[in-house]
Amino acid sequence: MAGNRGSLTTFLFCSCVFILTLWNNIKPSDEHEFIAKYSSTVPKDHFDYETKILPTSHTKGLQFVSADNRINHASWDVVHNTSDSLELANISENGIGDLMELLSTYNKTSKIKNFTLTNITISWINFIKVLQIVWHTSIEYFNIYNIKLLSKIEKQYFNYSGTSMKALTIKNVSIEVFYFSQDDVYSIFSEMNIEALTISDSKIIHMLCPSKTSPFLFLNFSNNDLTDTVFERCNSLVLLETLIMQRNQLKKLSKVGLMTSEMKSLTYVDISRNLLYYDEDENHCHWAETLAKLNLSSNKLTDSVFGCLPLNVQILDLQNNQIRIVPKDITELKALKELNIAFNRLTELPGCSHFMGLELLNIEENSILTPSSDFFHSCKNIKELRGGHNPFQCSCELRDFISFEKKSGGKLVGWPESYVCEYPDGLKGTQLKDFHLSELSCNTTLLLVVALVVTVVVVAVTSFLCIYFDITWYLKMMWQWAQTKRRVQNSHPEDLQSILQFHAFISYSERDSLWVKSHLIPNLEKEDGSVQICLHERNFVPGKSIVENIINCIEKSHKSIFVLSPNFVQSEWCHYELYFAHHKLFSENSNSLILILLEPIPQYLIPARYHKLKSLMSKRTYLEWPKEKSKHGLFWANLRAAININLPISANVV
Ligand SMILES: *[C@@H]1O[C@H](CO)[C@@H](O)[C@H](O)[C@H]1NC(C)=O
Repeated sequence: MAGNRGSLTTFLFCSCVFILTLWNNIKPSDEHEFIAKYSSTVPKDHFDYETKILPTSHTKGLQFVSADNRINHASWDVVHNTSDSLELANISENGIGDLMELLSTYNKTSKIKNFTLTNITISWINFIKVLQIVWHTSIEYFNIYNIKLLSKIEKQYFNYSGTSMKALTIKNVSIEVFYFSQDDVYSIFSEMNIEALTISDSKIIHMLCPSKTSPFLFLNFSNNDLTDTVFERCNSLVLLETLIMQRNQLKKLSKVGLMTSEMKSLTYVDISRNLLYYDEDENHCHWAETLAKLNLSSNKLTDSVFGCLPLNVQILDLQNNQIRIVPKDITELKALKELNIAFNRLTELPGCSHFMGLELLNIEENSILTPSSDFFHSCKNIKELRGGHNPFQCSCELRDFISFEKKSGGKLVGWPESYVCEYPDGLKGTQLKDFHLSELSCNTTLLLVVALVVTVVVVAVTSFLCIYFDITWYLKMMWQWAQTKRRVQNSHPEDLQSILQFHAFISYSERDSLWVKSHLIPNLEKEDGSVQICLHERNFVPGKSIVENIINCIEKSHKSIFVLSPNFVQSEWCHYELYFAHHKLFSENSNSLILILLEPIPQYLIPARYHKLKSLMSKRTYLEWPKEKSKHGLFWANLRAAININLPISANVV
């Protein structure tokens, strides 16, 4: 099958026959060899000068395949009556005669409106002739793509009068000749009395200023080699609204500005992808006051550009330059609504103090670590912020920005996927929406308040506990007791040998000493003087603490006698409470403890912390000192018995 198809194609080429195919639906054609396509298009009210793409829908057309690049007269009648668009392709120098003959059949009343030539090789003189013929037909939009100009270029006369032409588009011109006067070429175009002219991808280095007021509304010289001198001091382009000089060799922003200042109707200028810079020293920057949209993207502009901008600009594209900061001292751009500073070197989010009306801001792909939330306070009218693809530092400062996102209801474009933490390393790759820090860890004041409150509470609770349970007293006692134990154990090993030196240790309050000295001691020691008693005054070692002495005495005595009285409880018991609490020797069942109740002690006199005393008094029988003299005999007998029973050394003594 493939072979059949190949030979069929060859046959078609060789036979030099035109195949006419009528089709109702446009389909992508495999055969790119056609030289002409006729189509009937629904005319647009507003032709898009910028794109110049012919609408292909609603197209009804004819396809021609030709081998020798010549145009056959046979099908012209069909063309005339069926379409308002004509497209011819691949016309060589020897097909030009046919082309001119074809075009000559059109006049000002023909149906044709759009005419396109693609891939054409032509001499300069013939090119002007073709242009001149088209000029006086019904054609309004004339497009020429890929044209090769042959032979020498000379000044040609051109009759501009009485044309229907609105727009001429020439893209991709190559010139085979090297020596010619540039002006002979440019003057043909600059004097044209049409609304729109496009000459792009053609390496033109200059364009002349029209000699009289020009009807141009639209000029597009993209991708050429124009320099700053183009349209210098040109005051005839007063109707021009759109000027596109994308991708040229423009350098000085101030010169371009000055150029536009004479164009009184200019609203849109695209000078992106040039070599533009602005030197602050130049100090003279004027732009057309009507200029509303300015595209300065992909140039070499720095922060200083903000000193050279049209005052009434509404849409400003500064992307892909070298801007580090929006300076604070710039003139206010009241009308600015859209500002694009993406792909620059900004380190902070610019506020709106100089662009109060800003609605759209693009700051993607900069070096902003922590966008300050001040932005949202100063930019009241902001509707859309594109802030993604910045190296965000995920720290406390970023929280305001994140919380703005929540409040704003979709004003951050690209959220959440374009907003990712870059720093610190631990959070790299985390989306900002997943980054949370607690209020406490970020708010210093709050942190201080909380710390203060906690401290106050701890101090208050501790103080309360100390007062209520007398913890300081316990601590003091414990410390003292521990100190004593340590000293006793460490420093006096010989004491252990002389253990049980005394029969009894008597503890009493100083205020009860009279009773102890006049009654107790005489009664205990009376008989043979063999009973050894350890007493405060007599046996206490000076230089040791009271508790130390007490423990010393207790441990050297068989029995411990406590003379209990309200005085004793208040002044002396404190020395024992802790000791007893930790000492098995004086458990409730021990016999070594003798309590003498000299005076009754009301319960309320015993402090709450004296647990041991309370339990001793409640569980243990004590010897009560009787007021009546008659009972004294029995008391002493009881006491002596209590001491003598179980006295292991009594035998030796007796
Ligand atoms: C500015 O020009 C660039 C190309 O040079 C284009 O990508 C961008 O969309 C233009 N900006 C505006 C606001 O039209």
